[in-house]
Amino acid sequence: MTAQPFDRSYAGTAAENYQRYFVPSIGGPLAEDLIAAADLRPGERVLDVACGTGVVARLAAERVGDAGSVAGLDPNPGMLAVARAETPAGDRIDWHEASAEAIPLPDGAFDVVLCQMGLQFMPDKPAALAEMRRVLEGGGRVCLNVPGPRPALFGILADALARHLGPRAAGFVDLVFSLHEVEAIAGLMRDAGFREVDVRAAPKDLRLPAPADFFRQYLHSTPVAAIAAEADPSTREALEREVAEQWQPFEANGAMALRLGVTTGSALK
Ligand SMILES: C[S@@+](CC[C@H](N)C(=O)[O-])C[C@H]1O[C@@H](n2cnc3c(N)ncnc32)[C@H](O)[C@@H]1O
Repeated sequence: MTAQPFDRSYAGTAAENYQRYFVPSIGGPLAEDLIAAADLRPGERVLDVACGTGVVARLAAERVGDAGSVAGLDPNPGMLAVARAETPAGDRIDWHEASAEAIPLPDGAFDVVLCQMGLQFMPDKPAALAEMRRVLEGGGRVCLNVPGPRPALFGILADALARHLGPRAAGFVDLVFSLHEVEAIAGLMRDAGFREVDVRAAPKDLRLPAPADFFRQYLHSTPVAAIAAEADPSTREALEREVAEQWQPFEANGAMALRLGVTTGSALK
């Protein structure tokens, strides 16, 4: 997620903008729910897989306290740089640059593995889940979530991205919402050897910024930023005009209401 900023008000890397804009409106509220579902206890050892800028890891650190420990893992060095910078003074979180499919940590090192909005991006999901299980102690638990199905608001965005920027840009939005069926996720978790697999889908009501603001934030916070930066300004302006106009029906009092489907899976080793 490294891109040249093409709009001066969004100067910064995509990872910095992800932390600044995406985490407060989407990542943060979902992380609160994931942490609640994981029911963390003081003293537990936690690994946050696909940690991004570390929102889940930081909340986990609050819950497990000084007697516990938290590590975060992500293959994107830009995301990890922001995660490191955001770690509150006095907290110690170990950050690892690696993919879920090859976790560079020993067997049985954790009581809890968390993974928020990450599994859908992993090219080899069975290998990633097997690795999450391997690093858990016997009886340890995994708790993960993924978003979907694709809400209408993001359908509008994907269609406009496809027309103005091409299939690669739209493909990112589709990938975000590509894995959410309860049975598909439960099957993957069972096949990886997890037991007591419990997967549930529930809607989460989120409040997003007004259309033009959210459009710009989204574009500058995701891998779409790199693609948009290559387009000429008139293309980007036409794209923004079209999306902002089509998002008008979702706006009320200067914000957009988003009901996002979230599938959460938990299980034991
Ligand atoms: C939408 S972000 C979620 C980040 C964070 N969990 C959060 O909730 O803010 C998805 C993250 O998955 C990471 N990711 C992509 N492929 C991965 C893989 N194979 N293994 C681990 N993480 C991966 C990306 O680098 C990115 O940071």
